[in-house]
This record gives sequence, C-alpha cells and structure tokens, in this order.
Amino acid sequence: MTDSEVIAGLDIGTDRIRVLVAEYDAKGKLIVSGWGESRSDGMRKGIVVNIEAAREAVLSAVEAAEHEAGRTVTKLWIALGGASVDSLNSRGVVAVSGKNREIGQADVTRVLEAARAVVIPMDRDILHVLPQEYIIDDQGGVRNPMDMIGVRLEAEVHIVTVSVSAIRNMEKAVERADYKVGDLALGSLAAARALLSEDEKEMGVLLVDIGASSTDFILVHGGAPRVTGSIPVGGAQATGDLSIVLKTPMDSAERIKCESGCCWEALADVDEPVIIPGVGGRPPTPVPVTELCRILQPRMEEIFRMIWVKVEKMPGAVRMTGGIVLTGGGALLPGVADVASRIFGQPARVGNPRTSVIWPEHCRDSGWSVAAGLILLGDAVTINGFDGEDTVRNAEDINPLKGLIKWLGEFF
Ligand SMILES: Nc1ncnc2c1ncn2[C@@H]1O[C@H](COP(=O)(O)OP(=O)(O)OP(=O)(O)O)[C@@H](O)[C@H]1O
Ligand SMILES: [Mg+2]
Repeated sequence: MTDSEVIAGLDIGTDRIRVLVAEYDAKGKLIVSGWGESRSDGMRKGIVVNIEAAREAVLSAVEAAEHEAGRTVTKLWIALGGASVDSLNSRGVVAVSGKNREIGQADVTRVLEAARAVVIPMDRDILHVLPQEYIIDDQGGVRNPMDMIGVRLEAEVHIVTVSVSAIRNMEKAVERADYKVGDLALGSLAAARALLSEDEKEMGVLLVDIGASSTDFILVHGGAPRVTGSIPVGGAQATGDLSIVLKTPMDSAERIKCESGCCWEALADVDEPVIIPGVGGRPPTPVPVTELCRILQPRMEEIFRMIWVKVEKMPGAVRMTGGIVLTGGGALLPGVADVASRIFGQPARVGNPRTSVIWPEHCRDSGWSVAAGLILLGDAVTINGFDGEDTVRNAEDINPLKGLIKWLGEFF
C-alpha cells in the first residue's frame, strides 16, 4: 500500500487538536486505524497566533495517530473555521457552446468560473465554490445539467472565502511539523458529510458546531449549502460564566462544566449537589445542579439566537424541517438540544459521526465530527480517482480548491 492511500484528517481547534488516520483494507473498505489528540496551543478563534506553539501541538497529535495506526503520514487534510472564514451567494451565466446545444463539462466549468468571478478583498481567497442549482433557459432547480439541451446556462453557487494569512499561518505550522498540506476544507462542511442524512439535507437542516471559542454553522436546504458562517462565542464563554458566578478559577469551572454541567433544568439531577472548590483557603461550597443550569442556559440561548439572526432571512431558513444538528465539544453539554429546539422552534439532536466506516470507540463523540468528515472527504476524493496533488497551491495559483469544484458539486 502506498502512502497516498493513507488518509489523514487534522482538525486544529482552539481547545483541542484531533487527528484521524484511515486506510483501506484488502477488500477496499476504509478503516480508521489511528487517532491522536492534543491540547491545542497557539490558536485563537480558529486562527494560528503562535506558529511554534501550534506546530508542537499538531506534531504531538499527529505523532500519536501515526503511532496508533503504525503508519507514517505525509499529507494532511485540514479543516478551516472560526473567524477566518466568510461566505456569500453568487450567480453565473454563460451561453452553451457544445454541439447541438448539449451541455458538457466545459460549459459547467465555465459557468462555475463565471459565478466565482466576484470581487473579494485582496486579503481573502476563495476556499469553496459550492453549486446550489443550475438554471437552463429559465428552467430552475436542475441539480446536474450535464447532457441537457439549452441555450443559456446559469449556476447559483455558495462561495466560501478565507483569510489568506490565516491559511498561510496554518500551513506554516503544519509544514514546520514536517507534514504537507494535502487539502483544505471548511470544517462545518466536513462535519456535514459525517453527520447529515440525505433526508435532512433535502428538507432543510442547520448544522451547528459548538467549539471552544467559536460556533460555526451551515444551513443546507434542497440538497445544497445555502448559508455558512461563524460567531465568536462558544463553550469557553460558558465556562467563563461559571467561573465568574461560582467564583472559581477557569480550570475548575471547566471541570465542573464537563463533569456535572447541564443547561436544561428538566434534565438536572436535583439530588446530587456539585461541590465548588474553595479559593484562598475558603471551604468548598455545595451548589445544586439547577444553579449550573441557570448560569449555562442563557449562554447557550445567546449562541443560538446569534446564529438565528444570521440565518433567518436567508433562503431556506424558514423550511428547516429537517431540524437542527448540534456537534463539536460544546454539544456534549447535557440539555443543549432542548435549548436549541426551543430557540429555533425545530427538533434538535446531537450528531455523532455517522458512518459505515470502521471507527475507534474513543472517536465517536461529537468532538470528532470535523476530523471524521475530513476522512470521508478524503475517501470520496480517492474513490473518485481525483488527483489530490492538483489541489495543492503554489505561489502563482493560490486558489486552494480549484480542482475540487467538480467533486464538491457532487458533494451534496
Ligand atoms: N463533556 C462536556 N460537557 C460540556 N462541554 C464540553 C464537554 N467536553 C468538552 N466541552 C466543551 O467543548 C468545547 C471544546 O469543543 P471543541 O473541542 O469542539 O473545540 P475546538 O474545536 O477546539 O475549538 P474551536 O472550534 O472553537 O476552534 C470547550 O468549551 C469544552 O468546555
Ligand atoms: Mg472546532
């Protein structure tokens, strides 16, 4: 087996760095054979702010995964999210050029090129161009225009942009750890691959990835992404609230939240008080779990309200009948689905990586969704025979995923 058949996904979060390594067995079935995790360092709101610290944290997580898998990783699929990404919807139009006005790959490529010809700031770059639908001679709702007959071809697309310096710094941290950047993908898009069912994507679903310092979201409707974005609030702010109100240091507040936290009173264990350690020689104090709910619930409500403000006016938002899917470490807080359901007025569930791939027990909680999605994206690219090398950028061509337009079109 060659090294290129090892697929490795790296999710560099602000709190945790997670790595999954997958390979194919003799029957061609994908198996996740290694995982590695480290406490993140040198990151702020999804952006590298200290290259050396980030390098060390990446190295430690990837080495752990390599050790577990017994394989060497050379190239990593990397997720981007948080403050570095932004998005917009766009439309492109071309005249069909093929013989007998039959739409071919060249027309599809041209119309997507036309749709991506938008003015974006110098310091940003296009990460993904995600087709939503094609329109042939005013006939909308076409998913795949190939071989259809028409004079005029239009494409509606969702464009994800990313800060060039954010990509460069992340690449630098990874390359200094002696790994190559294989490809980059929006983290929430990767998570969508691992978590969402076909029905949910068709009916309209909002995926919310609650991280430590930011919460990323993607709204999918009619089988295509309609809105992607991020808000600069996450689980760390909830920990901060506990720290202030309970008058306890951040590390103790974090432990209390992860071990006993709850944000929905009906789920709280009222019989078991939580012991808050005393500071400066003060004695520990017992606090009912309902008190934790009263502190944590408003913060989770705020996160969901901030997202609702961003998505409510977008096409498809009112039809999120596929519900809400929560993921990321922040979704491990008991009661979070109840809070989301109340704010969005739709059923909500916590999404753990859903996959037919053989998967280590340890990596099944929602914190692993992005890394899991990266593996599945890598798998889709490998199976489709796509040459990942084409997507590696160089100085002249800094469009990261130019070559991926084709398969991302087939992604949803
Ligand atoms: N069992 C738990 N209960 C409640 N919250 C938890 C639990 N485990 C982890 N968290 C919270 O999840 C958050 C970290 O989530 P995650 O690992 O997805 O973040 P990240 O990817 O490192 O950060 P970001 O995406 O913001 O860059 C932290 O705020 C942490 O407190
Ligand atoms: Mg994250």
